[in-house]
Amino acid sequence: MAWGGYYPAMNRPIRVHLLPALFEPHELKDGVAVVIDVLRATTTIVYALAAGAARVIPCGEVDEARRLAAGLAPGWVLLGGERGGLKIDGFDLGNSPSEYTAAVVAGKSLVFTTTNGTRALLRAREARRVFVAAFANLNAVVERLVDDEGTVHIVCAGTDGGVTLEDVLCAGSIAVGLCRSGRTFDSSDDSTQLAISLSENAAGHYDRHLSVLRASRGGRNLVEHGLDADIVTASRWDTAATVPELSREPWHIGLAGDSRATGRRFVEPPG
Ligand code: MLT
Repeated sequence: MAWGGYYPAMNRPIRVHLLPALFEPHELKDGVAVVIDVLRATTTIVYALAAGAARVIPCGEVDEARRLAAGLAPGWVLLGGERGGLKIDGFDLGNSPSEYTAAVVAGKSLVFTTTNGTRALLRAREARRVFVAAFANLNAVVERLVDDEGTVHIVCAGTDGGVTLEDVLCAGSIAVGLCRSGRTFDSSDDSTQLAISLSENAAGHYDRHLSVLRASRGGRNLVEHGLDADIVTASRWDTAATVPELSREPWHIGLAGDSRATGRRFVEPPG
């Protein structure tokens, strides 16, 4: 059985978690976590910070987001996110990456809550470092992870408690990038192998890549809401060289201070 040559070499383990519920938060303490919700929360966070937002403050609940925003400097805070895929009543922005332009978000604090993505971030918070990934910043994230140490925990947010293909595809692409980086990783974990094989199946074929996103649970929800353009946006690789990182004290997501994206490609876009 050949799995693209990614055999264990007793080095930094890669663990893909297909859902946040499939690990206990303390299991991440030994390593670095990367959280993925391609459709759409982590794509939107990458876009927002690339557009110059000062910080993104992730919240689990809508009321908590409203309370937090009310306590911040008026004029410099925006409420963003979704429930059921749609903008929340009274919020400034929904969860479409294309809404988060420099004209709207530059210099602002975004208080952000989504159904699955922000909750996955909260569950990963015990890792030594927590990065935010999507196709939009895929190679920049791989570069950041290669430079780090310890187990790489790749956390897929899923959709409403179920595994969703686009997050697994992105997880597999990150794992492939790590394995091709020249550093030695152990990708023998079964979920990691599953994610890698999904990624290898779409490699070099943008049409397959896009159809995985459209056919997934998250993708079908967006198509139903007439948000296919967001799927296309989220499918694009390396549109940003930014690596968002969760800070615990104070609680927010900003740009990883020690990012040094060189533009190196560890894994090629699908076309
Ligand atoms: C989520 O966090 O649940 C997603 O980003 C849902 C969505 O596509 O808006």
